[in-house]
Amino acid sequence: MKVYLSILLVFCCKFLHTLALDCSVMNGKLKQIDAGSGSVVGVNNLNEAFVLIDNVFTKISTPLKHFSVGPAGQLGVNSSFNIFKLKSGSFVQFPGLLKQVDAGGDQILAGVNMNDQIYCSNMDANNNWPSCNSPWVKLNGWLKYYSCGPYSCWGVSADDKIWIMKDVSNNVCSGSGTFVNVAGSLSMIEVATDGSVFGINFNKKLYRRIGITRSNPSGTHWQMMNACPNDHKHVSFDLGVLWVVCVDGSIRKCTI
Ligand SMILES: *[C@@H]1O[C@H](CO)[C@@H](O)[C@H](O)[C@H]1NC(C)=O
Repeated sequence: MKVYLSILLVFCCKFLHTLALDCSVMNGKLKQIDAGSGSVVGVNNLNEAFVLIDNVFTKISTPLKHFSVGPAGQLGVNSSFNIFKLKSGSFVQFPGLLKQVDAGGDQILAGVNMNDQIYCSNMDANNNWPSCNSPWVKLNGWLKYYSCGPYSCWGVSADDKIWIMKDVSNNVCSGSGTFVNVAGSLSMIEVATDGSVFGINFNKKLYRRIGITRSNPSGTHWQMMNACPNDHKHVSFDLGVLWVVCVDGSIRKCTI
């Protein structure tokens, strides 16, 4: 009986701790969204790319499958895995082939390729390219999604396990060199410019990592949050606003 009661208690408290967010619905439909350095970008199911301008998701001419914005600039990949970087106002092709990229690190780039191999690019290589011909550093391991913040990068592997790379800096984008497992299970994960971490699991539920600080970069636990009426598809956070794409493609701007 005691066992049943405590199981009941665990379940009930999990629900009690789900935070219902205050969100407004934006015009448009997306499949992926990224917010950073005050900008918001995304792509839709047709691989059309958008930048939020005056509160309107405005289509740009370069088709992209994944689009990221942050302190490292604007970076995207198309459906042939070619990489594009915004330079002097235009998207120019960047060396390499990746399926997912992230510009959220401190002027470093990061991403994974079609075989889940992991790459990053140091500040010098990112900013001075094309003067150096191989901007990418390969990391050990395999991830399907990888995102960087000011001092750590977080990723998820094909089995939805969660991994953190600590001690990442603009000259050492590979960090400590060893991925450390973090309890939990997620399908995608995003680190914000302020270091906070959000993700969505296989069940389309939204989570935030609680307790992240510079001295404890992996935080303490996951908190479930609700932004969509039903299920969540993609998430990104910047400057106090959580941007969420719901499973139906609708876009929600939430304050937390
Ligand atoms: C992706 O970009 C490359 C390089 O510009 C281009 O050759 C290719 O056709 C693009 N793929 C798609 C699907 O647009």
